[in-house]
Amino acid sequence: MHSSSNIGPDYISLNINDFDINSRITSKSLWRQWNQLSRFQRNIFYILFGTVLILTFYFLSGSTNSNIDYEKLNLVKGTSNAAKLEELVLVDTGVHAEQVGNAETGDHDDNVDHLDHVEKEKAVDAQVIEEPEFQPEINQLDDDQIGEPPQPKPNVVKFSGPQNDRQKAVVKAFKHSWDGYVKYAWGHDNIKPISRGYHEWFGLGLTIVDSLDTMYMMGLNEDFTKARAWVSENLKFDLNRDVNLFEVTIRVLGGLLAIYHLSGDKLFLHKATDLGDRMMPAFSTSSGVPYSDVNLGTKSAHSPKWGPDSSTSEVTSIQLEFRDLSRSTGQPRFEAAAAKVSEHIHNLEKYDGLVPIFINANTGLFRKHATITLGARGDSYYEYLLKQWLQTGKTIDYLKEDYLLGISGTQKHLCKRTAKNKYLFIAELVGVSKDMKPKMDHLTCYLPGTLALGTHHGLTEEHMALAKELTATCYQTYATQPTFLAPEITYFNVQGLNEDDNQLDMYVKSTDAHNLLRPEFIESLYYMWYFTGNKTYQDWGWQIFQAFENFTKVENGYTSIGNVRNPQNTRPRDMTESFWYAETLKYLYLLFDDTRQLIDLDRWIFNSEGHPLPIYEI
Ligand SMILES: *[C@@H]1O[C@H](CO)[C@@H](O)[C@H](O)[C@H]1NC(C)=O
Ligand SMILES: *[C@@H]1O[C@H](CO)[C@@H](O)[C@H](O)[C@H]1NC(C)=O
Repeated sequence: MHSSSNIGPDYISLNINDFDINSRITSKSLWRQWNQLSRFQRNIFYILFGTVLILTFYFLSGSTNSNIDYEKLNLVKGTSNAAKLEELVLVDTGVHAEQVGNAETGDHDDNVDHLDHVEKEKAVDAQVIEEPEFQPEINQLDDDQIGEPPQPKPNVVKFSGPQNDRQKAVVKAFKHSWDGYVKYAWGHDNIKPISRGYHEWFGLGLTIVDSLDTMYMMGLNEDFTKARAWVSENLKFDLNRDVNLFEVTIRVLGGLLAIYHLSGDKLFLHKATDLGDRMMPAFSTSSGVPYSDVNLGTKSAHSPKWGPDSSTSEVTSIQLEFRDLSRSTGQPRFEAAAAKVSEHIHNLEKYDGLVPIFINANTGLFRKHATITLGARGDSYYEYLLKQWLQTGKTIDYLKEDYLLGISGTQKHLCKRTAKNKYLFIAELVGVSKDMKPKMDHLTCYLPGTLALGTHHGLTEEHMALAKELTATCYQTYATQPTFLAPEITYFNVQGLNEDDNQLDMYVKSTDAHNLLRPEFIESLYYMWYFTGNKTYQDWGWQIFQAFENFTKVENGYTSIGNVRNPQNTRPRDMTESFWYAETLKYLYLLFDDTRQLIDLDRWIFNSEGHPLPIYEI
C-alpha cells in the first residue's frame, strides 16, 4: 500500500466488556443478554457468524485454488472446473485426448509421440518428452504451499548433450568458465577470473542460478546436481539488501522458473515463489509502475539512488516471469501486478509507438524528452510486448498492436543507413527536438531475433527483411574490428561528406570500445538460423565464438575486455557477467544445434536473460 494512504480513525470498535463474560452461562441468561444487545451489536454478530460460516464452507470444500478465479480460465469451454483443467492439460502439452490420464498423473512417458506432429523434418531424438534421464532428488516440501496451477506444468524436457564438434567446443568453453567459478567464486554473484576473486552484486549466487538451465541443456549433469544442492541449501532471499527488481526478475526468477519447467523439480518453483513474494512490494506505488529497487529482506521498495525514475525497459520486462509464476503456482497476484504495468503503459501517449527511456513510478508518466532508443533502457520494452503476446497464446491484442506500432515507429524514425555501404542501423533520438544520433548499442542487436520471431508467428514479412539487414549490420560491428569482437557502442557515418573511398561506415569511441561478453547478437543469430536454416548464421556465430576464444579466454575462465580495437592491447577487465553463462554460451550451443529441435519455439519463449518459459494457450 502506498505510504500516503493512512488509515483514518473512523474504524469500528467492538467493546468486549459489553458482554458480561462472568455471568452464569444458562440458556436463559444468554437469551437475556442477547436481548440486551443493541441492534448494531447484533448485526455485527450476524456478520461475524456469517463470515465464519462461509470461510468454513470454503475450506471444507477444498476450493483453495485461487486460480479458479482466473477470468481467462472461464473462457475455456467445459462443464466443470476439472474439465477445464483437463482441457488445459491437453492444450498446453500437446498430448492427445486419450492421454489425459497420463498427463494428469504427471507420467510423461507416453507423450513421446506428440512430436510426430511437429512438421519440421528434423531428427526427433534431440528432444524427447519424458522423464529426465537425470533424476534430481525430488523435493519433499509441502505442495500445499503452492496451489494447483491453473494450467498444468509443461513437459519435462530431456537433453542428450552436445551432438557435433561446434557444440562440444561450446560445452568445453562453458566447463572452463564454470570450473573457474566453482574454484574461486562459488556461491558469489560473479567470478573475477584473473585475480581469482569474486564480485558481489546482489548476494544471490547469480552465476549459479543463471547457469542452471544451460547446464541442464548441455547435459552437464554432475555440475547441475551440485548447483541444485547449492540452491536447495544456500539460496536465501531474506537479505537486508537492495536489489534491482528487473535484474533479479530476469536472472533469478526467470532462471528458477525455466529450470523448474525443464526439469519438473519443484524445489525451483518453491524458491521462485519465495522470491516473487519478496519482490511484490516494488509494485506498491501510486501508479502501479514499480520502483526499480526492492529490499528482499525488509520487503520495502524505492526509486534508484540516482533519481526519481525507473527505466522504461526495466518496468516492462518483468511480465513474462511474474505471469509464469502465477500460472505455475495458481496465485494470480503476481501476474495481476505485472500486467497492470503493461496496461498502464499501453494507455500512455507515445511517439509513434516509441517510448522515452525513463518513467516516474509515482506519477506513472514518462520523463518528457528522455532519449528514445532500442538500446539501453528501451530495448526489452519492445521485446516483451511481442513475447507477452506469444506467452498468452496471442489472446491479448493490445500487446501485438503496441509491438507493431513500436516497430513501425522504429522504421519511420530510427532506421537509418550509412553513406558508403548503406548499412541499415537503428539510431536514437535525443533531447527536446528529438535529434537523430547515429549510434547503436550492441544491446540493440537483439532486435533481428525478435523481428524474426514475430514473422514466424504471423506478423508481416517486412519485419523479416528488416531482421536480415540488421543481422548483417550487427555482424559488421564484429567483423570490422581486428579482434572480431563488437564494441559496446558503435557510431555510424550517415553523411557522404566526401568521395573518399576510405570513408568508414562505422567508428568506435575509446570509451565505448569494451566488450562484456554480451549475448544479443548471438541470440539473434540463433533465431535467424532457427527460422531460415541458412548456415551462414551458424558460421558467423562460429567466427565470433573463436574470437571469444582468442581474446577473452584466460586461465580460469573468460573475461570482459576493455578494448576490441587492438588485439595487442585488449585490456582485460577481470570480470565475467552471469549472462555469459545464461545467454551467450547457451545461444551459441543452440545456434550449433543442426537439428533446430532442442527448444521448440512454438512452445517456449526465452525471457530477456535467455531462460525459456512455456507458451500458454491463453
Ligand atoms: C544466407 O544468408 C546470407 C547472409 O544474409 C546471405 O548472403 C545468403 O544469400 C543466404 N543464403 C541463402 C541460401 O539464402
Ligand atoms: C583465432 O585464432 C585462430 C587460431 O590461432 C585463428 O585461426 C583465427 O583466425 C582467430 N580468429 C579470430 C577471430 O581472431
